[in-house]
Amino acid sequence: MEKVVSGIRPTGNLHLGNYFGAVKSFVKMQDDYDCMFFIADWHSLTTHPKPGDIQQSARTILAEYLACGIDPKKAPIYVQSDVRETIELYLYLNMNMYLGELERVTTFKEKARKQPDNVNAGLLTYPTLMAADILQHRAAKVPVGKDQEQNMEMARKCARRFNNIYGVEFFPEPQNFYFSDKAIKIPGLDGSGKMGKSEGNCIYLRDDDKTISKKVMKAVTDEGPKTPNSPRPEVIENLFTFLRIVSDDETYRYFDEKWNDCTLRYGDLKKQIAADLCKVVAPIREQIEYYSANTDLLDRIAREGAEVARASAQATINEVRRIIGFRV
Ligand code: TYM
Repeated sequence: MEKVVSGIRPTGNLHLGNYFGAVKSFVKMQDDYDCMFFIADWHSLTTHPKPGDIQQSARTILAEYLACGIDPKKAPIYVQSDVRETIELYLYLNMNMYLGELERVTTFKEKARKQPDNVNAGLLTYPTLMAADILQHRAAKVPVGKDQEQNMEMARKCARRFNNIYGVEFFPEPQNFYFSDKAIKIPGLDGSGKMGKSEGNCIYLRDDDKTISKKVMKAVTDEGPKTPNSPRPEVIENLFTFLRIVSDDETYRYFDEKWNDCTLRYGDLKKQIAADLCKVVAPIREQIEYYSANTDLLDRIAREGAEVARASAQATINEVRRIIGFRV
């Protein structure tokens, strides 16, 4: 069975970008693939060097993974820092990555701009650590959102380069996986391109119905359609992206027609989106409460997940040591 791995940084609660971009795919894939999902706590140090109670932050994501429907019996869940083997692979991969190519990664450039006083080597080699996360399990597929496309390209580059340098066909080139075949980018409702924690524009899986409605009703719009069948400006297309994702086809067509004949009222559209979003989020929210209260269960799941992940990583690392020529 093909292997699948993916992770999320524990820098806050899961938001709709994480859910529709990644976690929904995790849940779909666990029945058909050999899956492992993790919590990328090392990666969070690139932006949060003093992460506070990092173990509690990891539990938060773990509870949210479970609430979304990840079943640890099908797909072990682990915390990145519990699998130290990753660091060894990270080191080997870094030996063959070049400064120029790492500096060209857009997310590096963005982060360097956002935190000019902390342009650390971890930030620069973020894609290599991500490649190590993936390649240590020799994963074939990685469910991620659109913002990870370049990091995934780097992971493939790491795999290819290792294979070329040592003359082996050891690492598969991991492919991006999207649950609807196309890369997903959940937009921010504040008119910014993307929903994200650092953008401060998130709807969280923990938000109650009232909070969700408030956030949706505040979404940025314009003065309304003027010419029949005109293309939609980005802020309006953003709302239709939500509609496409959470509402049924008939509802989408209804509002699409209203746009096209210039009778659309944004208030109605927002109410519909808010109602349909609440339907998706409410049951997850309840489950989050249930799992969050159960620390022992969370810690047991993480412990068991780490054992599976370590065994998988160890097998790969031993092989890598053999290929390079180190003692095993
Ligand atoms: P992170 O924590 O930024 O985001 C986790 C996942 O959520 C997706 N995502 C989105 N998808 C669509 N629209 C959005 N607005 C949106 N915001 C976030 C991201 O694409 C991602 O899939 N580098 C990763 C963590 C990581 C990882 C890995 C992932 C570390 N090692 C190995 C896969 C494999 C990250 O920053 O995720």
